[in-house]
Amino acid sequence: MSVLVTGGAGFIGSHTAVELLESGREIIIIDNFSNSKPSALEAIKKITGKDFKFYEADYTDRKVVEKIFEENKIDSVINFAGFKAVGESVEKPIEYYTNNIYGALILLDTMRKYGVKKFIFSSSATVYGDPEIVPITEDCKTGGTTNPYGSSKLFIEQILMDLYKSDNSWDISILRYFNPVGAHKSGLIGEEPQGRPNNLMPFIARVAEGTLKELSVFGNDYNTKDGTGVRDYIHVVDLAKGHIKALEKLEKENSGLFIYNLGTGTGYSVLDMVKAFEKATGKEVPYKIAPRRAGDIASCYSDPTKARNELRMDC
Ligand code: WQD
Repeated sequence: MSVLVTGGAGFIGSHTAVELLESGREIIIIDNFSNSKPSALEAIKKITGKDFKFYEADYTDRKVVEKIFEENKIDSVINFAGFKAVGESVEKPIEYYTNNIYGALILLDTMRKYGVKKFIFSSSATVYGDPEIVPITEDCKTGGTTNPYGSSKLFIEQILMDLYKSDNSWDISILRYFNPVGAHKSGLIGEEPQGRPNNLMPFIARVAEGTLKELSVFGNDYNTKDGTGVRDYIHVVDLAKGHIKALEKLEKENSGLFIYNLGTGTGYSVLDMVKAFEKATGKEVPYKIAPRRAGDIASCYSDPTKARNELRMDC
């Protein structure tokens, strides 16, 4: 039996693929390399010493998705194949809604057709919009999303809840990521976005290595300790391990529908991250204060108690 990993060559997908293989599971990856590179697949094999099937395709292509289910015995699906840049989504709403929502619907419809009903969804803290309180718990109000990326995740969560209501033989885990950062200790996989990075940490890394001139800090007039945006940065390997724990829960018969915040419970500002990166690497990260970015909010960090208690996550 295999786990189908959509977007498995991507940042979080590749790290989760490593953990899945190292947990003794078989995996199949589908990826169209829209925000990843083929080299990630070789790296996964090198890190784990294990092989797996790969389909270079777009998960919105129903024919290909059906082919994968025809050709493989799939037990569960983890869906990472979403576009995920807040700022970019404000400029490209149609691309974000098509890829994220239509893709998820094709996947779920095909799963239903083949009787596969264990699904882990890569959701996001952005479903909380501009949170009413921080730290954020899973029962905080969602909605009021400030960008198409967050709205697409919210819509898919609603689809999953409606699906479960219609047929409670599904086992679904909705994982709301805060800000995934870092890389596998081998250094063979990490966050390597195509082109100019949208997210903070890959941008800082490019400035530190000299391929980008300076960081633009998007606003220093937020109501935070130093005026810059505060986020909850969780190491990507901790996040990947959280998927294994969530899968173990779904593999128990008739487990249900679960929602978890995957974060550390601590918020750090943009300037905290710049200083920490400089301290850790000894590299200077020149920056300038720039206007706020459309879709951004001031503070977003988690209360990870539920995941710690129910998934025994220790990050
Ligand atoms: C972080 C902070 C920016 C770039 C992310 C992911 C999204 C989801 C939620 C998983 C903000 C500031 C950034 C730059 C900056 N995660 N910044 N200059 O917007 O919190 O969203 O977490 O699903 O996928 O995108 O992350 O890294 O873009 O921004 O000042 O060049 O850094 O304003 O305060 P964000 P980010």
